[in-house]
Amino acid sequence: MAPSAQTAAPALDVRALREREFPTAARAPYLNAAAVAPLPQRAVRAIEAFNRRRASAHDLTGDDFEPTLARARDAAARLIGADADEIALLPNTSHGINLAAHVLPLRPGQRVVVSDREFPANVYPWMQLARNAGVALVRVPAHEFGRPDEARILTELERGDVGIFALSAVQFASGYNAVLERFGSVCRARGIFFVVDAIQSLGQVPVDVRAAHVDILATGGHKWLCSPFGTGFTYVRRELVTQLEPRVVGWTAMAGTLDYSRLLDYRYEFWDTARRFEVATLPFQDIAGMTESLTLLHEVGPDNIRRHVLGLLDPLVEWLHSTGAAEIVSDLRPEHRSGIFCFRPPDAEGAFRALGRAGVNCVLREGAVRISPHLYNTEDDIAVVMEVLSRPESW
Ligand SMILES: Cc1ncc(COP(=O)(O)O)c(C=O)c1O
Repeated sequence: MAPSAQTAAPALDVRALREREFPTAARAPYLNAAAVAPLPQRAVRAIEAFNRRRASAHDLTGDDFEPTLARARDAAARLIGADADEIALLPNTSHGINLAAHVLPLRPGQRVVVSDREFPANVYPWMQLARNAGVALVRVPAHEFGRPDEARILTELERGDVGIFALSAVQFASGYNAVLERFGSVCRARGIFFVVDAIQSLGQVPVDVRAAHVDILATGGHKWLCSPFGTGFTYVRRELVTQLEPRVVGWTAMAGTLDYSRLLDYRYEFWDTARRFEVATLPFQDIAGMTESLTLLHEVGPDNIRRHVLGLLDPLVEWLHSTGAAEIVSDLRPEHRSGIFCFRPPDAEGAFRALGRAGVNCVLREGAVRISPHLYNTEDDIAVVMEVLSRPESW
């Protein structure tokens, strides 16, 4: 018999929420926010309404441009405890990590430190820097299952001559949630720039960039932020903004850009906000959609979302733990848990295929089944997973 999925009283009314915002979520267990999350209806409506005005172009108004961007920067800033002038609207995580790699000043001989087995978006830009700028890239060996080795990283940071430490707040293949404050305080005390890839955390784990002493944080919008592809943002700490000169330079990076009567003055003066890192015309319609999604996440509240997804996972975690039906890849210590839960049944591929046949949308990563519920999932979705896993003879 399949074990039953029980959770504590939900902190949010998921059924009402999904009827309103995620009507297709009830169709089958969608447990894949770590890859792509669905768009809420309010974002779909905002994008469609924008595109209708755009289709005729006559109907576009002044509100569709600057105010659309300003609302998005506000909503993004609020999510991470920053100010809007510390936000650049960049299309994905990689642009933000590349920005960090290109603008943060390093002295010759300094080292860049990452944890080994990071998602490649947080590795290739540093590899390129190492090849071109004469700095060394140190990949600190990870624990089994790719979880960052906190003690080893801290030792590495304290050895001196580190210019940048870059970390995913939540790891893509284990769901390991790093306690950012621990690394950030060491980095700040030692003058090391702390760069965070936040795409697997924002929207499901509360992040406060000031408390965590983050210098640059980059995210794309299409996973836990339930936002359109090609949307995202990068935070640059205020004190750094005016010290850092963009390397990719476009006309919207310049402060005089809104005065269309003087474009040909070519005044080479960057905005004194993080806008200086925005390069050119942006996808306004999708950014309008992102703002709606971020507003929804604010309304539900990052703490509630975290409680909800961990509560959903609890019965599955406990059942796998107690029966040994699968090797658990995710770190189960409360502070290191996240909405990404990874486990390896003896036949992970077979289990994955059986989950697919039962309508469960999840993925295999590094030989483990990865499931990632979000605010639209219910205990029924997890019950389907447990039902499938409890019948290995049917895989
Ligand atoms: C940790 C992490 N960083 C970055 C990305 C994606 O990067 P980008 O937003 O540049 O496509 C992913 C997943 O696709 C990821 O898991």
